[in-house]
Amino acid sequence: DAITILAPGTVANVVCGFDVLGFALSQPYDTMTMRLTAQRGIIIIINRDDYNLPTEPARNVAGAALLALLKAVPEEVGFEVEIAKGIKPGSGIGSSAASAAGAVVGANHLLGHRFSPAELVEFATYGEEVASGVRHADNIAPAIYGGVTLIRSTTPLDIIPIPAPLLYVTVVHPQIEVKTSDAREILKKEVLLRDAITQWGNVGGLIAGLMKGDYDLIGRSLEDVIIEPVRSILIPCFAAVKAQSLAAGALGGGISGSGPSIFMLSRDEATAHRVAAAMRAIYTGAGIDFHTYVSTI
Ligand code: HSE
Repeated sequence: DAITILAPGTVANVVCGFDVLGFALSQPYDTMTMRLTAQRGIIIIINRDDYNLPTEPARNVAGAALLALLKAVPEEVGFEVEIAKGIKPGSGIGSSAASAAGAVVGANHLLGHRFSPAELVEFATYGEEVASGVRHADNIAPAIYGGVTLIRSTTPLDIIPIPAPLLYVTVVHPQIEVKTSDAREILKKEVLLRDAITQWGNVGGLIAGLMKGDYDLIGRSLEDVIIEPVRSILIPCFAAVKAQSLAAGALGGGISGSGPSIFMLSRDEATAHRVAAAMRAIYTGAGIDFHTYVSTI
C-alpha cells in the first residue's frame, strides 16, 4: 500500500535567527508517494524531472535521509519513493529539506510510527548534508513539526516548537540560483559584540512577539545586522523589494534561507496580496522572471 505525503516549503533563519529559526509554508510543496519494498534499499523515482536531480540514493537528498533511517531498522525492508517537485531546487525555500523530511515522515508512517519527530529530523539532516554540505536543521525541523521551530542546539539536537499567531507570508522567488554552499562561504566567520547584542535582542524579541501574538514586536524584531548585509548583495532588487513591501503594509521580512527568495510577513491576507503586487511590479520592471506565493504559517 502506498501513501502520499505533501512536504512543505520552509523559510529558514526568519531574518534574525540564522541557523536556529524556521517556519513551514502552506505552499509550495512537494508531493511524494512511498511504498515499502521487500528488499533492503532505496528506489528513487523523480516525476517530471526538469531539475536533473540524482536518483542514486546516496546522492539524492530523500535517498540519503532514508539510508540514515534504514540503519535504525533491523527488518529486511526498503522504500520506493516517487517525488514530484513542487519546490524549485536552489530557491531558498527549503527544496532539499522538503524531500528529505517528506521521505522520513513517509517511511515512519509505513513502519508504524516507531520514530519520534526529533529522530526523524536527525535522519533527514543527512539529506541536507548531500545538498549543501552542512547538516543544518532549520528547514528540516519546521518541515516535520509544522509552524515555527527554534533549533536551540544541533548537537545534541534540541528543537522547540514556537506557538505563533496567524501570519500571512508573501514569498517572491526571482529566478536566479544561489547555492547555499556559496551563500555560506561569503559570510564573515567573526561578529562584532555590538552586532551580536543587536541580533540576540531581536531573536528574543521575535520569539516573545510570536508567543504573545504581538505583531508590532514581531515587526520590530525582523532585523538582521549580521547575515543580510553580506548576502543581500547576491539578490537583485533586494532593497527595493524590502522597502516597497514595508510601504505596502508588511510587518517585516528579509532573505528566505540562503536566498534568492525574499519573504515578508503580514497580519492579514489583503496586505499579503498587496505585498505580492509590489514585488511583481519591481521584478517585472527589472525584466527578471519570478514566482510569488501567498501562504500562511
Ligand atoms: N540556515 C541556512 C543558511 C539555511 O542560511 O545557510 C539554508 O537554507
